[in-house]
Amino acid sequence: MTIPDEFIQELKARTDIADVVGSYVTLKRSGRSMMGLCPFHNEKSPSFSVSRENGFFYCFGCGAGGDVITFIRKIENLDYVEAIKLLAGRAGMTVPENGRDDGMGKLKARICEANREAARFYHKQLYSPQGRQALEYLRGRGLTEKTIIHFGLGYSPSERFELVNYLKGKGFSQEELFAANLANQSKRGYAFDRFSDRVMFPIIDLRGNVIAFGGRIMSDIKPKYLNTSDTPVFNKSRNLFAMQFAKNKANGQLILAEGYMDVIALHQAGFENAVATLGTALTNEQAMLIKRYCDEIVICYDADEAGQKATQRAIDILRPTGLNIRVLTVPNGKDPDEFIRSHGNQGSARFRMLLDKSGNDIEYRLAKLRTGYNLNISAQKVEFLTKAASLIAGIENPVEQDVYITSLSGELDVRKDAFSRLVEKDSGKRNRQMKKEQQKKIYGDLSAVNDRLNTEKHLNLRAANAEEALLSLMILNPDTALRLKDSLEPEVFMTRFDRNIYEVLRKRLMEGQEISMSDISGSFSTDEMSRIARMLASHPRENDPDAAAEEYISVLREEAQRLTPEQAASADNDTIMEQLRKLKDKKR
Ligand code: UTP
Ligand code: MN
Repeated sequence: MTIPDEFIQELKARTDIADVVGSYVTLKRSGRSMMGLCPFHNEKSPSFSVSRENGFFYCFGCGAGGDVITFIRKIENLDYVEAIKLLAGRAGMTVPENGRDDGMGKLKARICEANREAARFYHKQLYSPQGRQALEYLRGRGLTEKTIIHFGLGYSPSERFELVNYLKGKGFSQEELFAANLANQSKRGYAFDRFSDRVMFPIIDLRGNVIAFGGRIMSDIKPKYLNTSDTPVFNKSRNLFAMQFAKNKANGQLILAEGYMDVIALHQAGFENAVATLGTALTNEQAMLIKRYCDEIVICYDADEAGQKATQRAIDILRPTGLNIRVLTVPNGKDPDEFIRSHGNQGSARFRMLLDKSGNDIEYRLAKLRTGYNLNISAQKVEFLTKAASLIAGIENPVEQDVYITSLSGELDVRKDAFSRLVEKDSGKRNRQMKKEQQKKIYGDLSAVNDRLNTEKHLNLRAANAEEALLSLMILNPDTALRLKDSLEPEVFMTRFDRNIYEVLRKRLMEGQEISMSDISGSFSTDEMSRIARMLASHPRENDPDAAAEEYISVLREEAQRLTPEQAASADNDTIMEQLRKLKDKKR
């Protein structure tokens, strides 16, 4: 779908990038821009900047950047048109539906529609004779009618064409059903239901779209749960089960469980702030999502060994977000669902007690560490204290550190200052290591972005730098750009990447259109927009843009006279002499 330029202009006028970004990130004024913690990578000190004046954001840490539309595309995982729709809704505007939808946006919408119809179909099956057993199964697991309806649970019939036939009857094509991963393709090419004879759990995103399903078998057949594979509307590492409910009930805290049934049992017991990952280990993206809706996360995984390992991993992923982390261990090897059910109508109260006494992750780790040592033996005691010191060294808050140092040294009868020194030693080592790793990561990321986007930059750094300076100057000074468009031919740009940007700007200028960041957002990918934002962020506004532009252009013309190393290798003597003469002329 092509969005009319006037619409973008109006949207631009009504949208303030600092407001939009500010609803996801806490921003503080710092000079001409606003700074905050980057929502696209884990960091503890702010390197994420927003320029209200120039309409872009840029993270000096990870290189993410762009205009407000790019921001929404990245943070909400949307395509261009979807992001415009979201921003329009926010600004009280409706996107005109005259244009044709672009292919991907249309397919995504169709997949969501098919999923919604499928969810309705599965739910209805639950109350049909063939769904009887599934309904009994859910009731047998203690779910009330209200819960079943609230979560839209369902049943996929065993005969493998029912959903396919039903959706075809509703006008969906075979290709759409494959794309939604609702159907599989047989060797002969026909479509059959992906889910059969399973209890169905719809997975719903924050905007209320049904984006995927989990299906549980009611026998011992493997796999126990079958889930939708990733599709254009579903990425299992970016979503959390029940987040659409939990985000409104968080009140500062979310509970992270392992399974669908745990979450459902928790919600039914009144803990409507519970979410679960979707059959994978917790990812960074999910940690960021959690961070958006709370300050405290209670990890409540299964008590088995796998669950405890997963808890450790989750702590490692969640720590850098700065969230307060607590760990709730369910006794007797049960998972939360089993625990709640085993206590009948006391389930909710009993879980509340567990929740109230659940420790933070350091307490949890110290307790866990301690079980491995016999503290009556001196050597083991020393070893435990050394490991404990390293754990405590990882705590950022010095007051919190002191609490553990005091309590452990008291408990184990060692001198507090001695134990304290052990912790300090470890802190120093840790800090140096972290700084190194962080720097490596940052520079690694940046050079990767470099290479992937402008692969020719390293061939002529001087020219490429002048190109970038010139492009950002044009975007920030449309009047200068307007003058340049006629005299500056695209060929002056040596790197294809920069030339392409210039061509887009020039074409817009020729057609009388504007070239601010939001104006050009539709012409570039989010990665490309990040790169352009980086150019703007590293080139402050010029006082005399016309003069500066002339300077950059002269650098470019000069560099254009030079031979590339390849040309030099193959050129004959005359050509080289000719080049040298030109260069000399220029100098005079
Ligand atoms: P569990 O095996 O702990 O199951 O898997 P559960 O949640 O306790 O399920 P019930 O109580 O037996 O019904 C935890 C989660 O891991 C994913 C699912 O998301 C499940 O909820 N999983 C598990 C799969 O994706 N596939 C599987 O085969 C098993
Ligand atoms: Mn379970």
